[in-house]
Amino acid sequence: MEKILVLDFGGQYDQLIARRVREQQVYAEIKAYNRVTVDEIRRAGYKGIVFTGGPNSVYDPASPHFDPEILSLGIPLLGICYGHQLIAYLAGGVIGPAASGSEYGKTEVTVKPGVLFAGVPEKSVVWMSHTDYVSTLPAGFHAVASTDACPSAAMADEGRKIYGVQFHPEVTHSEYGTKILCNFLFSVCGCAGDWKMDDYIEKTVAEYKTALAGKNVLCALSGGVDSAVAAALIHRAVGDKLTCVFVDHGLLRKNEGDGVEKVFSGGFGMNFLRVDAEERFLSKLAGVVEPEKKRKIIGEEFIRVFEDVRDKIGDPDILVQGTIYPDVVESGKGDAATIKSHHNVGGLPSVMKFQGIVEPLRDLFKDEVREVGRKLGLPESLVSRQPFPGPGLAVRIIGEITRERADVLRDADAIFRCELEKAGVRPSQYFAVLTDTASVGVMGDARTYGHVVALRAVTTDDFMTADWTRIPYDVLEAASRRITNEVKTVNRVVYDITSKPPATVEWE
Ligand code: XMP
Repeated sequence: MEKILVLDFGGQYDQLIARRVREQQVYAEIKAYNRVTVDEIRRAGYKGIVFTGGPNSVYDPASPHFDPEILSLGIPLLGICYGHQLIAYLAGGVIGPAASGSEYGKTEVTVKPGVLFAGVPEKSVVWMSHTDYVSTLPAGFHAVASTDACPSAAMADEGRKIYGVQFHPEVTHSEYGTKILCNFLFSVCGCAGDWKMDDYIEKTVAEYKTALAGKNVLCALSGGVDSAVAAALIHRAVGDKLTCVFVDHGLLRKNEGDGVEKVFSGGFGMNFLRVDAEERFLSKLAGVVEPEKKRKIIGEEFIRVFEDVRDKIGDPDILVQGTIYPDVVESGKGDAATIKSHHNVGGLPSVMKFQGIVEPLRDLFKDEVREVGRKLGLPESLVSRQPFPGPGLAVRIIGEITRERADVLRDADAIFRCELEKAGVRPSQYFAVLTDTASVGVMGDARTYGHVVALRAVTTDDFMTADWTRIPYDVLEAASRRITNEVKTVNRVVYDITSKPPATVEWE
């Protein structure tokens, strides 16, 4: 399989670059610059390498560098931003602060004709974000683009197929960015662009058929997209040898548990075990209001439930996990501060003795996972589902969690989602929160004293940062009216207009 290496130097766009490449049906993988050697790169047979941007200056002693031997492998290279400067530096050029200061944002660039800029007009707009620039080009290179502030906005050594661009072709603000990436992939690297999801599924299923022959396999379903697609994929490879366990902790959205059961035990006919554990989760959570404590209790109770499952079905040989590519890339980046202890089913391996774990989606981005799900026949309602946290509604019920309060939230949440979907508004994530505030209202002629429900909707690419969604007022109005009319005990609805940061997406 032809593939491109995205060598990551700490830029914020590493995943975006890989996705842009994959959009052209060329498989791309990201590796951190300090986790791969020139020898490994040589052996992997890449068709081309993209050096990403990064926040450093190449002269900073702490800045990420790479073995200059990379330049003599004969593999085509494209450096972007910091990557462009690093290639120039490794090849013997000089980098310095631009005399006119930083260049940031949309900038007009003038390009010279050549392979990299075929089909790109002489003048167009690109996205710039830099302070340093290549002040002296290395031997063998010549400048192929310039801006007012930067005479070396792009460089090329056509003989060695090594290129660098100071701007970011991967972001949509660069008008001809995709064209430039395509020129690199197809004209410089000679890629065929034949990476297709159907082939990926066929190949993965065939591999697992062999690798898991005769093994008993377990998949813990959360009701989310990733574990569902992972289960469907492995089911195609091992059939009856797969058992899916779905723990209903009583903190799922309205009708969610039944929906998951219907798809997997009905449509797919899988060995499907639904564990109705509402009672035990709610009793453990009784009286608990502190968010981290709620999460810990739920995480631990999952493990207890799985201990019981083990007693029923024995120790399976293999565990399937729905890890996807961004999880893999993020976990290779070192630890950021823990804001919330996110959990899925990470405690399971310590309970059961598995010979191994398989992660069939670990090479795929979320939209690719959804595509696999569709091709495997999962319903759209499951495949296009918005993210839902492992601890479920527990992190959306502020204060004490009771069955009654969970039902109030479920009803309000279902109405909000229904109104948004009816209006064709699809934020990245949207849900209701039950606050611990009671408020005074008036209904008919009587005073009420009821729950305050908050509505939350965010727009984001990666959930690391998020903006609150500008939902049309009439849609908010419809949701508010229906919630206060139909959900007894709720007499006030508010809309959360906080971005992340400073808030987080979930309230707890
Ligand atoms: P926050 O609230 O941290 O959420 O801004 C970012 C994204 O992560 C989801 N989330 C979780 N997902 N287990 C999960 O699997 C968790 O404990 C958890 N907490 C938050 C949240 O829904 C949003 O999509």
